[in-house]
Amino acid sequence: MKGSDRLRRLASYAFVAALVVAAVSCNEAHPNTTLVPHSDLGREIDFLWDRLLLLGTIVFILVEGILVYIVFRYRRRENQGTPPQTHGSTKLEIAWTLIPAVILVFIAVPTVRTIFITQAQAAPGSLNIEVTGHQWWWEFKYPEYGVTTANEIYLPVGRTVNFRLRSADVIHSFWTPQLGGKRDVVTNRTNYMWYTPDSSISSNVWNGFCVEYCGASHANMRFRVFTVSKQQFDSWVAGQKLPAKFGAVAAAPSGGPNPPSPAAPGVATPAGAPPATTPPGASTATTPPGASVGAAQSSVAAASTGAVQAGYIFPREKIPDYAVPHSPIPPDLKFTAGLTGNAARGKQVFSSSACIGCHSIAGNPAAMGVTGPNLTHVGSRSTIAAGRFPNAAAYLALWIKNARKMKPEVIMPTLGLDEYDPVLKAKVTAAGGGLTDQQIADIVAYLTALK
Ligand code: CUA
Repeated sequence: MKGSDRLRRLASYAFVAALVVAAVSCNEAHPNTTLVPHSDLGREIDFLWDRLLLLGTIVFILVEGILVYIVFRYRRRENQGTPPQTHGSTKLEIAWTLIPAVILVFIAVPTVRTIFITQAQAAPGSLNIEVTGHQWWWEFKYPEYGVTTANEIYLPVGRTVNFRLRSADVIHSFWTPQLGGKRDVVTNRTNYMWYTPDSSISSNVWNGFCVEYCGASHANMRFRVFTVSKQQFDSWVAGQKLPAKFGAVAAAPSGGPNPPSPAAPGVATPAGAPPATTPPGASTATTPPGASVGAAQSSVAAASTGAVQAGYIFPREKIPDYAVPHSPIPPDLKFTAGLTGNAARGKQVFSSSACIGCHSIAGNPAAMGVTGPNLTHVGSRSTIAAGRFPNAAAYLALWIKNARKMKPEVIMPTLGLDEYDPVLKAKVTAAGGGLTDQQIADIVAYLTALK
């Protein structure tokens, strides 16, 4: 009897210890925790959470303590008759009305205070970002700078950001757990949210999510936030404002002919041999061809002194594993190995195919579509398909070939010749605009050149 009591007590100690360890380890091992805020908004919400947890714990211990005491103190005993029966007690009823009312005041005051703080408009001079939720990707516009991008945001630390949240279709929800949120993105309504990333977190990557169920690929509607220094941000903005890096047609002033497009060979990118044949789980270990393109570009750091050098991109090799996609490639999706893409040819194919119906590329007058992500600087992004795959040639090739196999029910149509479109339930034909692997490799070379 005694032995089993001791065992039970040991087990309960172990359980409490495990809970404490789990709570503490949230800080280090869980990059998507909300319990380690890195912005003013995050701290406001965290303060409220801590306060309510503390008050709730005190109430719980008091109530349970009194309950347990009464259960034992007044439990039925041998040879005891029915206790005196009473009905109604004014004192008691006043007490159990007043006490919860007082408790509610302690909960309501900090809650309402936090609501007012977090719902207020951001101070003038804040960085405005227009967020539009789409099925299933995020569009980000910096109206002051004329920059439009998708699925990743650059934020200078120490500057308040004012998010205007809108939806192009259904209800989504915008959340960057460690920086702040979450707030719904609602059809026919503009919601606002603001926060100031802490200055101490310079040069970091944060995961963002859609956290309102919005259809088949809700879980594949992610984004990345890069917090950077002011100089790096200015450099990034300067780069993103420029037209496409490859083969852009200058907005020619009246008169003079357009400058010739740069020569193609330098940017030809091999797009063959995607790691589709490796077993699931191992696929991401394979360095996809073309990955080096990103590394080379990332060496363009912010100008160390003086003038801002355009085109900072967060270094690929410094992106931590938690922000690198590990989605498996569909096993039945293959790409011809050993093809070499030609960016100039790719631009032509892109500009005369279905791509331009949905995508814009500043500097390519043929590409003016607005239903899909703006691709002007797509080569500078770390992921494709709203964070589902790394932005590398091998993944991009498979994505163009059959996006609907890569991401369930995505609006981007299947484009690979003879590929089966799982939404249309039909094969893509040449008459229907199907692209050969060589044409796709060319488009990949073009897109990856758009830093
Ligand atoms: Cu968008 Cu869930």
